[in-house]
Amino acid sequence: MKTLKDLNIDNKKVMIRCDLNVPIEDNKILDNTRIVKSLKTINYCLERASKVIIMSHLGRIKTPEDKAKNSLRIVSTELSRLLGQNVYFCTWEEDINKAINDNKIVLLENTRFFDLDDKKESNCDLELSKYFSSFGDVFINDAFGTAHRENASNVGISKYLESCNGFLIEEEVNNLKKLDNPTKPFTVIMGGKKVSDKIKLIDKLITKVDYLLVGGAMVYTFLKAEGKEIGKSFLEEDYIDYCKNLLNNYKDKIILISDNFIELDKCIDIDNMTSELVGYDIGIKSVERFSEIINKSNTIFFNGSLGFTEGGYTYGTKNILEALNKDNKLVVIGGGDTVSACNELLSDNNFVISTGGGASLEYLQGNKLPGIFEE
Ligand code: 3PG
Repeated sequence: MKTLKDLNIDNKKVMIRCDLNVPIEDNKILDNTRIVKSLKTINYCLERASKVIIMSHLGRIKTPEDKAKNSLRIVSTELSRLLGQNVYFCTWEEDINKAINDNKIVLLENTRFFDLDDKKESNCDLELSKYFSSFGDVFINDAFGTAHRENASNVGISKYLESCNGFLIEEEVNNLKKLDNPTKPFTVIMGGKKVSDKIKLIDKLITKVDYLLVGGAMVYTFLKAEGKEIGKSFLEEDYIDYCKNLLNNYKDKIILISDNFIELDKCIDIDNMTSELVGYDIGIKSVERFSEIINKSNTIFFNGSLGFTEGGYTYGTKNILEALNKDNKLVVIGGGDTVSACNELLSDNNFVISTGGGASLEYLQGNKLPGIFEE
C-alpha cells in the first residue's frame, strides 16, 4: 500500500479525503469517533504542508432538501475544537482558492452535494474529480469508511494528483489483515438478519475458523435446515439448502443456539418451539455455550447483532460483548450495526473497532477496495 511515508508533502497544498460521516441529531454530533480517528493524518500534514484541505461526504444527498441537514459546518466546529486551531469551513459557492490562500486549514462542504447533479460524486465523474484536484498539489485518501466506493473525491481525484493512503486506512488494513493469519483458536460470531447477506463472508471465513457461532435472525434458517421447528421466526426459504450444505461440510465448526427468547422475559429451548412462536434473541444456555468457546479462543471476529436489538432484545449481544471483553484476545468488531450496538452496550472495551462498516466487510470478503492505493 502506498502510505504517507512514500509521499513528499513538505510545503505542499495537501488534500485529505476523510470519512467525517458522523451521526448528527438536532444539530449535535452524537459520536465523534470518525473525526478523532482522522486527526493523526491531519496533524501530520499540518506540521509539514503549507495548506491542508479536507473533504468528506456526510449522509446521502438525494433531494435539495437533504442539503440543510447534511452540511459539514457543524463538523468543522468540532474539528477546530479537537485540533485546537481554526478550521475554515468553505461552501461550494465561495471563492475556494481565496479561502485556501487565506487559511492554513480548510474543510470543504459535503462532496455529495454534487450528487444532485447526475450523481457526479458517487458515479466518480471525471470532470468533478479534476475540479476537486485543482485545489491541491497532492492527495491523501484516509476515508476507510468509503474505501469500498469509487467516488470522485476518493478515487477519481487520485487520477490527477500524486496520491497515497493516510494513517487511518493503513491502521484499519493492518488490523483486518490480522484475521488473515489469526492466532488460533479463531472464532467468528455471526448474527444479523439474513443469511443471504453473509454468504460471501461465511464462505471466505469458514475454512479459516475453528468455530462459527451463529445467532441473530439468520440462525433460524440454519435451525430449519437441521429440521427444527422455528415457528414464525424469520426464515429465508431459498437459503435452507445453502445452510444444509454448510452444516454437512463443517458440522464440527458450526455452533447454533439451543434456546431463545420468545418474549423479553421468556426464554425457551429450541426443542420446545411451536408453530406460533417467534424467536427474537439467543437464550441463556446459548450465551453460556458461546461464552465457553469465546474463553478458549484467541482471535474473534464479531459481526451482526445476536438479537432483535431495536425491539429491546439486547440480552445476547450485551452478554457476548461482555464475554469478549474479558482478557487479552484480539477482538475485531465489524459492520456498522454491530459497531453501534457495541458502542451503545459496552463503550468501555479493548476491541478493534473499524470506522468502516461496509468497507471492513468488503475487505474481509476478499474484495479489492478501490480507495486503497496499492502502489
Ligand atoms: C459509512 O457510514 O459506512 C461510510 O461513511 C460510508 O457511507 P455510505 O454507505 O453512505 O457510502
